[in-house]
Amino acid sequence: MIAPSILSADFARLKEEADAVPGADWLHVDVMDGHFVPNLTLGLPVVEALERATDIPLDCHLMINDPDRWAPGYAEAGSRNVTVHAEAAHDPRKLSRDIRAAGALAGLSVKPRTPLEDWVEVLRDYDTLLVMSVEPGFGGQKFMPEVLDKVRTARRLVDTGHLNVIVEIDGGISRDTIEQAAEAGVDCFVAGSAVYGADDPERAVEALRDQAVR
Ligand code: DX5
Ligand code: ZN
Repeated sequence: MIAPSILSADFARLKEEADAVPGADWLHVDVMDGHFVPNLTLGLPVVEALERATDIPLDCHLMINDPDRWAPGYAEAGSRNVTVHAEAAHDPRKLSRDIRAAGALAGLSVKPRTPLEDWVEVLRDYDTLLVMSVEPGFGGQKFMPEVLDKVRTARRLVDTGHLNVIVEIDGGISRDTIEQAAEAGVDCFVAGSAVYGADDPERAVEALRDQAVR
């Protein structure tokens, strides 16, 4: 799966930018609160409007403090998947139940330096695992190959534990890095600048997909 990140799109033309990637499996929406990460983007009203404006399922990545309070609202808004950060969640088990009860898949994300080992049991309650391959906060950063070990561990946990979890990667994914991520076992690739920085975003999505399945 390819999930273009609208963080690198033109925020004044979000509907057109969604329409520019008809082949996208999910549209990745980076919600940042200026506290959990040193950047501020958009919130629930924009997600609600975008949900009405596109048929592409929304993949909301909440880089915010107190996701326990806010995440279910993003599910109620119609998002397909709502991802919270393990580092920020107070009660991740209850949170996954709340997100699912509000109608979305529940995602758990870990920053590059957060070990997966602490979250293995909690992962059973989640539908997606988002491994960050840059420090969250900004698009256009360099891919951190050291997270590939974590991806391999995640792949092994999911396969051997028969977990129904989609392994997702976010940060620095391009035609140069997607192959190594695919080999490590990623199912879903988020790409911001590699898609919206391209002259033809639709073709960029297909080029990434081709490169991932080589
Ligand atoms: C970064 C965001 C990413 C960002 C990725 O904190 O979570 O989703 O859009 O951008 P690229 O693909 O340019 O690294
Ligand atoms: Zn993201």
